[in-house]
Amino acid sequence: MNKTIAIRRVRPEARRAIPTDASKLGFGRYFSDHFFATEFDRQNGWHLTRIEPMRPLQIDAAAICLHYGQEVFEGLKAYRGKDDGIYLFRWQKNAERLRNSCRRLMMETVDEEFFGRAVKTLVLLEQEWIPRAPSSSLYIRPTVIATDPFLGVRPGDEYAFYIIVGPAGPYYPEGFNPVRIWVSSEDVRAVRGGLGEAKTAANYAHSLCAQHKAKSLGYTQVLWLDAIEHRWVEEVGTMNIFFVINDEVITPPLAGTILPGVTRDSVLTICRHWGMKVSERAISIDEVFEQASSGALTEAFGTGTAAVISPVGVLSYKGKEVVIGRNQTGPLANRLHDYLTRLQHGEEEDLFGWVERIDKLDIDQLAVWNG
Ligand code: COI
Repeated sequence: MNKTIAIRRVRPEARRAIPTDASKLGFGRYFSDHFFATEFDRQNGWHLTRIEPMRPLQIDAAAICLHYGQEVFEGLKAYRGKDDGIYLFRWQKNAERLRNSCRRLMMETVDEEFFGRAVKTLVLLEQEWIPRAPSSSLYIRPTVIATDPFLGVRPGDEYAFYIIVGPAGPYYPEGFNPVRIWVSSEDVRAVRGGLGEAKTAANYAHSLCAQHKAKSLGYTQVLWLDAIEHRWVEEVGTMNIFFVINDEVITPPLAGTILPGVTRDSVLTICRHWGMKVSERAISIDEVFEQASSGALTEAFGTGTAAVISPVGVLSYKGKEVVIGRNQTGPLANRLHDYLTRLQHGEEEDLFGWVERIDKLDIDQLAVWNG
């Protein structure tokens, strides 16, 4: 694997304006000056590894990713601490999931070391773009696509792995306030044996229809149920889901149809560390409604890299609404949000070995790679 990253910097006059008002960042709207890219073919392996000024990609109109969806991606963040440090959070988990997604879609994989080097080099080069306001960060989007021009249905032989980054605020317009969720009783996200646990474009393209229904009814997101019985809770559009029932923290198990979220795993670990009762178990939508109506279900929240911890205030299922925790952010969501964001910004003792400060580590190597 080619380890050298050639860097071509943007001309000063072509630099983009860095947004200054963090309250208006939103999510996924701004992109920095450079992107990382590398290409794969059977003869050369990964090669042409570089960081260059942002530009439209040039791929063949017949590229396999455009016709048969061989595309996988990741989402992670770089954080600027109060101490001015630059922090990454559990990036190895994203590297691992990207490899798993690639394997599921019969795509060429990227090894952990290469992934980490690519992410760190780009983040360090673009460090001015990391916002400093609370609840903001530099969102990192690694992507792999099959690029060979061929219209027969078979796995690609040529791939591009690229990474774009951009400053981002809260994913939802609600910020860290309860969201209203619509439970889909007809459309399903994934079936066992399908693509549900891969982070691939198809899962998101497929979700748009139900997402549109939810929006038009005044809800922010869709909660998916299982594809066979239409009964068991799976996940929310861009997040995993948690419920607190009689002080027990419950989330559906990873059984092949659910995205194995890094934040999900972190929340499970943190809650166990805090001595809470934690269960990864099947939970039906009927149980959720019964327990919410009886008052035993006191909190629900989603977890995700983009969404962080996102409280759920209202659920709607088959025309019936239930309000959770008086439609207010609950104590566990609050505590987790506070702890996680402090940890990610290097402000908490890193008990789990999840946080890596990168600005001190790699800056010399960055200069060496400057090509
Ligand atoms: C993330 O949380 O990073 C995601 O990838 C969700 C995204 C589809 C908005």
